[in-house]
Amino acid sequence: MFSLFKKTETFAPLAVDMHCHLLPGVDDGSSNTEETLHCLKAMATVGYKKVFLTPHFQARYPNNEEDIKRRFADLKKAIEGSGEKGLPEVACIAGEYRFDPAFARMPGVDNVLTLPGKRLLCEFSLHNNNYMPIEIFRDYIKMGYKLILAHPERYPYLNVHSTEVKEMRDMGIAFQVNILSLNGFYGDSPKRKGFEYIEKGMSEYLGTDTHNMRYIQALMETAENNEVQKLLKKHKFLNAELA
Ligand SMILES: [Fe+2]
Repeated sequence: MFSLFKKTETFAPLAVDMHCHLLPGVDDGSSNTEETLHCLKAMATVGYKKVFLTPHFQARYPNNEEDIKRRFADLKKAIEGSGEKGLPEVACIAGEYRFDPAFARMPGVDNVLTLPGKRLLCEFSLHNNNYMPIEIFRDYIKMGYKLILAHPERYPYLNVHSTEVKEMRDMGIAFQVNILSLNGFYGDSPKRKGFEYIEKGMSEYLGTDTHNMRYIQALMETAENNEVQKLLKKHKFLNAELA
């Protein structure tokens, strides 16, 4: 089915996707192993060599780290057993932790699932603008975690020039824009802000945030977007250094 998609290698400079929801049957991500395999095959055609899985940890999807690790091991076995060749390596299981009042996950939890280098991918509520957990950030940073804020361009209440953004950047929090934002997948404002963060050198990472085949279809379109191709040539991202 993916022979229909042009092999573009657009995202080869990134090499690593560090944000996606392809653990089968978990949260609102891929529904089964077959869908995950389809998604991975497509990701290979646009240049990805490695994929890190980041299931949600939030009130709506109260995943449990030990269960997630078991499911990850099962997926690795299923991929091996599928005999599929040329897929990106599914290299790491981490999480996307939502910091909001409904899920006040306090520091001290020692089994949080991080990206390599003790990097913790976190997000905020897309709607609640009354909560900026600066103190929780500080506690995690003190404990040696390096924080990466997922898709800053998607929060309607957060702007590039806001004091909250400045405060987070001053604390050393890295940002990760969603690639699909750059093709208008989430609307005009996330698109504009996504470019803005990147042009200002404020997005150290890019992620696909792939959930399923609908996202993959959008990723394939984005791979052929000239503006996105130019941006990837012009700016350096740190995805490939996550190893
Ligand atoms: Fe996500």
